[in-house]
Amino acid sequence: MSFTVGADAYDRFMGRYSVPLASQLADFATIAVGQRALDVGCGPGALTGELVRRLGADAVSAVDPSEPFVAAAQQRHPGVRVQRAAAEQLPFEDRTFDAALAQLVVHFMAEPVRGLREMTRVTREDGVVAACVWDHAGGRGPLGAFWQAARELDPDAEDESELAGTREGHLAELFRAAGLHGVEEGVLSVDVQHPSFEEWWQPFTLGVGPAGSYAAGLEAGRQAQLRDRCRELLPAAPFVVTARAWAARGTGGFL
Ligand SMILES: C[S@@+](CC[C@H](N)C(=O)[O-])C[C@H]1O[C@@H](n2cnc3c(N)ncnc32)[C@H](O)[C@@H]1O
Repeated sequence: MSFTVGADAYDRFMGRYSVPLASQLADFATIAVGQRALDVGCGPGALTGELVRRLGADAVSAVDPSEPFVAAAQQRHPGVRVQRAAAEQLPFEDRTFDAALAQLVVHFMAEPVRGLREMTRVTREDGVVAACVWDHAGGRGPLGAFWQAARELDPDAEDESELAGTREGHLAELFRAAGLHGVEEGVLSVDVQHPSFEEWWQPFTLGVGPAGSYAAGLEAGRQAQLRDRCRELLPAAPFVVTARAWAARGTGGFL
Protein backbone atom coordinates (compact mmCIF):
# COMPACT_ATOMS: atom_id res chain seq x y z
CA MET A 1 0.00 0.00 0.00
CA SER A 2 1.26 3.46 -0.71
CA PHE A 3 1.08 6.64 1.26
CA THR A 4 4.22 8.08 -0.32
CA VAL A 5 2.04 10.00 -2.74
CA GLY A 6 1.34 13.69 -3.16
CA ALA A 7 -1.12 15.35 -0.81
CA ASP A 8 -3.27 16.44 -3.77
CA ALA A 9 -3.72 12.85 -4.88
CA TYR A 10 -4.68 11.91 -1.32
CA ASP A 11 -7.16 14.78 -1.11
CA ARG A 12 -8.89 13.67 -4.30
CA PHE A 13 -8.96 10.00 -3.36
CA MET A 14 -9.64 9.91 0.40
CA GLY A 15 -9.58 13.50 1.66
CA ARG A 16 -13.00 13.97 0.08
CA TYR A 17 -14.33 11.55 2.72
CA SER A 18 -11.91 12.14 5.61
CA VAL A 19 -12.36 15.94 5.76
CA PRO A 20 -16.11 15.72 6.57
CA LEU A 21 -15.44 12.79 8.92
CA ALA A 22 -13.03 14.81 11.07
CA SER A 23 -15.60 16.95 12.91
CA GLN A 24 -17.52 13.80 13.81
CA LEU A 25 -14.46 12.10 15.30
CA ALA A 26 -13.59 15.28 17.20
CA ASP A 27 -17.16 15.41 18.60
CA PHE A 28 -17.04 11.71 19.49
CA ALA A 29 -13.75 12.34 21.33
CA THR A 30 -15.31 15.35 23.12
CA ILE A 31 -12.56 17.69 21.95
CA ALA A 32 -13.02 21.11 23.54
CA VAL A 33 -11.16 24.37 24.10
CA GLY A 34 -8.29 24.16 26.56
CA GLN A 35 -7.15 20.65 25.63
CA ARG A 36 -3.87 19.62 24.03
CA ALA A 37 -4.37 17.02 21.31
CA LEU A 38 -2.30 14.67 19.18
CA ASP A 39 -3.34 13.58 15.66
CA VAL A 40 -1.75 10.17 14.97
CA GLY A 41 -1.42 9.24 11.28
CA CYS A 42 -2.40 12.77 10.33
CA GLY A 43 -1.89 12.36 6.56
CA PRO A 44 -2.03 15.77 4.89
CA GLY A 45 -4.04 17.05 7.86
CA ALA A 46 -7.81 16.50 7.59
CA LEU A 47 -8.30 15.93 11.33
CA THR A 48 -5.40 18.25 12.19
CA GLY A 49 -7.38 21.12 10.65
CA GLU A 50 -10.43 20.31 12.75
CA LEU A 51 -8.32 20.17 15.92
CA VAL A 52 -6.73 23.53 15.07
CA ARG A 53 -10.17 25.09 14.59
CA ARG A 54 -11.23 23.87 18.03
CA LEU A 55 -8.03 24.21 20.06
CA GLY A 56 -5.67 26.55 18.20
CA ALA A 57 -2.47 25.50 16.43
CA ASP A 58 -0.33 25.79 19.58
CA ALA A 59 -2.34 23.06 21.28
CA VAL A 60 -2.06 20.55 18.43
CA SER A 61 0.68 18.07 17.52
CA ALA A 62 0.61 15.56 14.68
CA VAL A 63 2.65 12.60 13.43
CA ASP A 64 2.71 10.47 10.29
CA PRO A 65 5.33 8.11 8.80
CA SER A 66 4.82 9.48 5.26
CA GLU A 67 7.29 12.23 4.37
CA PRO A 68 5.13 14.01 1.75
CA PHE A 69 2.16 13.99 4.13
CA VAL A 70 4.21 15.42 7.01
CA ALA A 71 5.40 18.22 4.70
CA ALA A 72 1.84 18.93 3.51
CA ALA A 73 0.34 18.91 7.02
CA GLN A 74 3.06 21.28 8.23
CA GLN A 75 2.52 23.64 5.32
CA ARG A 76 -1.27 23.57 5.62
CA HIS A 77 -1.33 24.06 9.39
CA PRO A 78 1.40 26.51 10.43
CA GLY A 79 2.09 26.47 14.16
CA VAL A 80 1.23 22.79 14.56
CA ARG A 81 4.19 20.58 15.51
CA VAL A 82 4.18 17.88 12.82
CA GLN A 83 6.75 15.10 13.04
CA ARG A 84 7.58 12.01 11.08
CA ALA A 85 6.77 9.04 13.33
CA ALA A 86 4.65 5.91 13.56
CA ALA A 87 2.02 5.25 16.21
CA GLU A 88 4.01 2.32 17.55
CA GLN A 89 6.84 4.63 18.64
CA LEU A 90 5.60 8.09 19.51
CA PRO A 91 8.25 10.75 20.17
CA PHE A 92 6.57 12.23 23.26
CA GLU A 93 6.85 12.02 27.03
CA ASP A 94 4.25 10.14 29.05
CA ARG A 95 0.96 12.03 29.60
CA THR A 96 1.74 14.93 27.27
CA PHE A 97 -1.78 15.26 25.80
CA ASP A 98 -5.40 15.47 26.92
CA ALA A 99 -6.45 13.57 23.83
CA ALA A 100 -4.82 11.31 21.21
CA LEU A 101 -6.83 10.60 18.06
CA ALA A 102 -6.26 8.38 15.03
CA GLN A 103 -8.61 8.84 12.07
CA LEU A 104 -8.53 5.98 9.52
CA VAL A 105 -5.13 4.76 10.74
CA VAL A 106 -5.45 1.76 13.11
CA HIS A 107 -5.96 -0.67 10.19
CA PHE A 108 -2.65 0.46 8.68
CA MET A 109 -0.61 0.12 11.86
CA ALA A 110 1.94 -2.71 11.76
CA GLU A 111 1.01 -3.45 15.40
CA PRO A 112 -2.38 -1.89 16.23
CA VAL A 113 -2.39 -2.79 19.95
CA ARG A 114 1.12 -1.42 20.37
CA GLY A 115 0.10 1.76 18.54
CA LEU A 116 -2.95 2.24 20.76
CA ARG A 117 -0.84 1.55 23.85
CA GLU A 118 1.56 4.28 22.77
CA MET A 119 -1.37 6.67 22.26
CA THR A 120 -2.49 5.79 25.78
CA ARG A 121 0.99 6.32 27.22
CA VAL A 122 1.24 9.87 25.87
CA THR A 123 -2.29 10.77 27.07
CA ARG A 124 -3.13 11.97 30.60
CA GLU A 125 -4.77 9.35 32.82
CA ASP A 126 -8.21 10.95 32.55
CA GLY A 127 -7.67 12.01 28.94
CA VAL A 128 -9.27 10.39 25.90
CA VAL A 129 -7.93 8.07 23.22
CA ALA A 130 -10.20 7.76 20.18
CA ALA A 131 -10.04 6.27 16.72
CA CYS A 132 -12.20 5.37 13.75
CA VAL A 133 -11.81 2.98 10.83
CA TRP A 134 -14.08 2.54 7.78
CA ASP A 135 -16.53 -0.36 7.81
CA HIS A 136 -14.60 -2.23 5.11
CA ALA A 137 -15.66 -5.65 6.41
CA GLY A 138 -19.35 -4.72 6.07
CA GLY A 139 -18.69 -3.15 2.65
CA ARG A 140 -20.12 0.16 3.85
CA GLY A 141 -16.99 2.28 3.79
CA PRO A 142 -16.35 4.62 0.85
CA LEU A 143 -14.62 1.89 -1.19
CA GLY A 144 -17.38 -0.73 -1.04
CA ALA A 145 -18.32 -0.62 -4.74
CA PHE A 146 -14.67 -0.66 -5.79
CA TRP A 147 -13.76 -3.74 -3.77
CA GLN A 148 -16.95 -5.54 -4.75
CA ALA A 149 -16.12 -5.05 -8.44
CA ALA A 150 -12.49 -6.04 -7.87
CA ARG A 151 -13.46 -9.28 -6.09
CA GLU A 152 -15.99 -10.17 -8.78
CA LEU A 153 -13.31 -9.87 -11.47
CA ASP A 154 -10.54 -11.41 -9.36
CA PRO A 155 -11.56 -13.57 -6.39
CA ASP A 156 -7.94 -13.37 -5.14
CA ALA A 157 -8.00 -9.56 -4.90
CA GLU A 158 -6.84 -8.60 -1.42
CA ASP A 159 -9.40 -6.10 -0.22
CA GLU A 160 -9.32 -4.28 3.14
CA SER A 161 -11.99 -6.33 4.93
CA GLU A 162 -9.49 -8.36 6.95
CA LEU A 163 -7.65 -5.36 8.34
CA ALA A 164 -7.72 -4.47 12.04
CA GLY A 165 -10.77 -2.56 13.24
CA THR A 166 -12.75 -2.84 10.00
CA ARG A 167 -15.39 -5.22 11.39
CA GLU A 168 -18.02 -4.36 13.98
CA GLY A 169 -16.70 -4.46 17.53
CA HIS A 170 -13.06 -5.11 16.63
CA LEU A 171 -11.80 -1.58 17.24
CA ALA A 172 -13.21 -1.72 20.80
CA GLU A 173 -11.54 -5.13 21.30
CA LEU A 174 -8.22 -3.60 20.29
CA PHE A 175 -8.78 -0.69 22.67
CA ARG A 176 -9.38 -3.09 25.57
CA ALA A 177 -6.36 -5.17 24.59
CA ALA A 178 -4.29 -1.97 24.71
CA GLY A 179 -5.39 -1.41 28.33
CA LEU A 180 -7.87 1.41 27.77
CA HIS A 181 -10.70 1.82 30.30
CA GLY A 182 -14.38 2.68 29.87
CA VAL A 183 -14.26 1.79 26.19
CA GLU A 184 -17.29 3.01 24.24
CA GLU A 185 -18.19 2.36 20.62
CA GLY A 186 -19.86 4.56 18.05
CA VAL A 187 -20.72 4.74 14.36
CA LEU A 188 -19.77 7.76 12.24
CA SER A 189 -21.17 8.39 8.77
CA VAL A 190 -20.53 10.87 5.97
CA ASP A 191 -22.47 11.56 2.75
CA VAL A 192 -20.32 12.69 -0.15
CA GLN A 193 -21.84 13.84 -3.44
CA HIS A 194 -20.14 12.77 -6.69
CA PRO A 195 -21.05 14.91 -9.70
CA SER A 196 -19.94 12.32 -12.25
CA PHE A 197 -18.67 8.75 -12.44
CA GLU A 198 -15.29 10.00 -13.77
CA GLU A 199 -14.86 12.30 -10.77
CA TRP A 200 -15.43 9.24 -8.52
CA TRP A 201 -13.21 6.87 -10.53
CA GLN A 202 -10.19 8.89 -11.63
CA PRO A 203 -8.62 9.23 -8.14
CA PHE A 204 -8.48 5.42 -7.87
CA THR A 205 -5.84 5.48 -10.62
CA LEU A 206 -3.49 7.70 -8.58
CA GLY A 207 -2.05 4.82 -6.51
CA VAL A 208 -3.18 5.99 -3.05
CA GLY A 209 -3.57 3.32 -0.34
CA PRO A 210 -4.42 -0.36 -0.96
CA ALA A 211 -7.29 0.34 -3.41
CA GLY A 212 -5.23 2.83 -5.41
CA SER A 213 -2.22 0.49 -5.47
CA TYR A 214 -4.46 -2.31 -6.69
CA ALA A 215 -6.08 -0.23 -9.47
CA ALA A 216 -2.84 1.41 -10.57
CA GLY A 217 -1.10 -1.98 -10.69
CA LEU A 218 -3.55 -3.50 -13.20
CA GLU A 219 -2.71 -3.58 -16.90
CA ALA A 220 -4.87 -1.20 -18.97
CA GLY A 221 -7.46 -3.75 -20.15
CA ARG A 222 -8.07 -5.15 -16.66
CA GLN A 223 -8.27 -1.65 -15.23
CA ALA A 224 -10.89 -0.71 -17.83
CA GLN A 225 -12.93 -3.82 -16.94
CA LEU A 226 -12.78 -2.86 -13.29
CA ARG A 227 -13.84 0.72 -14.05
CA ASP A 228 -16.77 -0.48 -16.18
CA ARG A 229 -17.96 -2.89 -13.47
CA CYS A 230 -17.80 -0.07 -10.89
CA ARG A 231 -19.89 2.09 -13.22
CA GLU A 232 -22.53 -0.67 -13.35
CA LEU A 233 -22.59 -1.05 -9.57
CA LEU A 234 -22.95 2.66 -8.78
CA PRO A 235 -26.13 4.71 -9.27
CA ALA A 236 -26.36 7.10 -12.23
CA ALA A 237 -24.54 10.41 -11.61
CA PRO A 238 -24.83 12.58 -9.70
CA PHE A 239 -24.84 10.14 -6.80
CA VAL A 240 -24.09 10.17 -3.09
CA VAL A 241 -21.69 7.74 -1.39
CA THR A 242 -22.58 7.17 2.24
CA ALA A 243 -19.49 6.00 4.09
CA ARG A 244 -19.69 4.47 7.56
CA ALA A 245 -16.89 4.17 10.10
CA TRP A 246 -16.60 2.26 13.36
CA ALA A 247 -15.37 4.43 16.22
CA ALA A 248 -14.05 3.69 19.71
CA ARG A 249 -12.92 5.83 22.62
CA GLY A 250 -11.54 5.12 26.06
CA THR A 251 -9.59 6.66 28.88
CA GLY A 252 -6.03 5.95 29.78
CA GLY A 253 -6.05 4.85 33.38
CA PHE A 254 -2.65 3.74 34.58
CA LEU A 255 -0.57 1.66 32.16
C1 LIG B 1 -6.19 6.77 5.25
S1 LIG B 1 -4.83 7.75 5.76
C2 LIG B 1 -5.60 8.78 7.02
C3 LIG B 1 -4.97 10.14 7.09
C4 LIG B 1 -5.73 11.17 7.92
N1 LIG B 1 -5.80 10.75 9.31
C5 LIG B 1 -7.11 11.41 7.37
O1 LIG B 1 -8.07 11.15 8.07
O2 LIG B 1 -7.20 11.89 6.22
C6 LIG B 1 -3.84 6.67 6.70
C7 LIG B 1 -2.61 7.34 7.25
O3 LIG B 1 -1.99 6.46 8.20
C8 LIG B 1 -0.60 6.63 8.08
N2 LIG B 1 0.04 5.45 8.71
C9 LIG B 1 0.32 4.24 8.18
N3 LIG B 1 0.90 3.46 9.08
C10 LIG B 1 0.97 4.17 10.24
C11 LIG B 1 1.47 3.91 11.55
N4 LIG B 1 2.02 2.73 11.87
N5 LIG B 1 1.41 4.88 12.47
C12 LIG B 1 0.84 6.09 12.17
N6 LIG B 1 0.35 6.38 10.95
C13 LIG B 1 0.41 5.45 9.99
C14 LIG B 1 -0.37 6.79 6.59
O4 LIG B 1 0.89 7.34 6.29
C15 LIG B 1 -1.54 7.67 6.21
O5 LIG B 1 -1.23 9.02 6.32
